[in-house]
Amino acid sequence: SPFLDMAHRLISSANTSSARFAFIFTVSLSCTYLFYSILFCRSTIMTNQGYDGKRCPPSGSAAAGKKLLGKPEICASLEVRSALLETAAQKAPRDPVKAAVPTDNKYRNMSVAQKYGNKKLPNALIVGVKKGGTRAVLEFIRIHPDVRALGTEPHFFDRNYDRGLDWYRSLMPRTLDSQITLEKTPSYFVTREAPRRISSMSHETKLIVVVRNPVTRAISDYTQTLSKKPEIPTFEELAFKNRSLGIVDTSWNAIRIGMYILHLENWLQYFRPSQMHFVSGERLITDPAGEMGRVQDFLGLKRIITDKHFYFNRTKGFPCLKKPESSSQPRCLGKSKGRTHVQIDQEVIEQLQEFYRPFNIKFFEIVGHDFKWD
Ligand SMILES: *[C@@H]1O[C@H](CO)[C@@H](O)[C@H](O)[C@H]1NC(C)=O
Ligand SMILES: *[C@@H]1O[C@H](CO)[C@@H](O)[C@H](O)[C@H]1NC(C)=O
Ligand SMILES: *[C@@H]1O[C@H](CO)[C@@H](O)[C@H](O)[C@H]1NC(C)=O
Repeated sequence: SPFLDMAHRLISSANTSSARFAFIFTVSLSCTYLFYSILFCRSTIMTNQGYDGKRCPPSGSAAAGKKLLGKPEICASLEVRSALLETAAQKAPRDPVKAAVPTDNKYRNMSVAQKYGNKKLPNALIVGVKKGGTRAVLEFIRIHPDVRALGTEPHFFDRNYDRGLDWYRSLMPRTLDSQITLEKTPSYFVTREAPRRISSMSHETKLIVVVRNPVTRAISDYTQTLSKKPEIPTFEELAFKNRSLGIVDTSWNAIRIGMYILHLENWLQYFRPSQMHFVSGERLITDPAGEMGRVQDFLGLKRIITDKHFYFNRTKGFPCLKKPESSSQPRCLGKSKGRTHVQIDQEVIEQLQEFYRPFNIKFFEIVGHDFKWD
């Protein structure tokens, strides 16, 4: 250091008070220089060379900011750093697959299931219906600690049956003995072979069907198709063979799916009515906790999912979860859920209501519940 050289020269040359002053002055200057050198070094380390070759996280939250102020050696402290990372992980929207930061008891228990549990064939299935609200029921029920659900639709009993039960089992999440394994594939309900195939897997399988006014269901179904294929004919053209005569085209899937009683008769050849539970798609929106209470009862689960898990999003017109399984952030269903339907002529709606009425009445009789779709 040039300052130290200079100081050395001063000491050896003179002994006067001015020289002494110069000496002290120089030494203090040197110290200042050294001090800033060290600081500069550290800040270089801080910005370029954090752990894992990453930069130090910026103070993303007030808590992190306080920690930064209180502990200048933030980057050197693994403990604080991991705390910061955890805060950042909680803030960022998380990929459900990568959400591995244990945040609460429930998550820790799930890790236990993933580590020590076994893959089992499902005890319960959400079998339908398309556009009834099956995704909502699945996302709501899986916050229960005794439920482990497959997030995707395996389509085993309709499209992939040839792959065999071992393949099917391999898709399932690991569960503890006390936990229920669940999957949902809405097309099962209208698949002719599904009831027989499911009962040959197990006679005791519990079946959940989310039903909704078949007219709104059909419109919702059409809206979804239209968003993917804008060139398709209008709803009216597809729904009727001859509209002036009021002849409905029952070969159109969007119409056929809503004739619930016809499909149900097929299921009742293989399952007892007590093995099937029907969720009202309408009440799932107005009273999610009530509907989920009955689902939990049906599955033999303690009522853990209650009012406090939901809030209503007025913009979306849909209930949202305050704290879903995989993150600490509130979550609503995807953009496509609860989307605005295409406008359908009121007269057409009334014609279809008329068409469905006898099917609905029969369905209510068999199920023992009036869903009030008039
Ligand atoms: C997690 O497991 C512990 C015991 O293993 C239990 O006491 C606790 O209630 C469980 N937590 C949840 C949320 O299930
Ligand atoms: C519908 O029925 C009416 C009366 O029978 C007939 O005149 C008309 O051509 C039919 N429309 C179509 C599209 O078949
Ligand atoms: C409500 O839904 C809208 C539209 O999907 C969304 O932008 C908004 O963030 C949601 N608000 C809350 C509080 O969930």
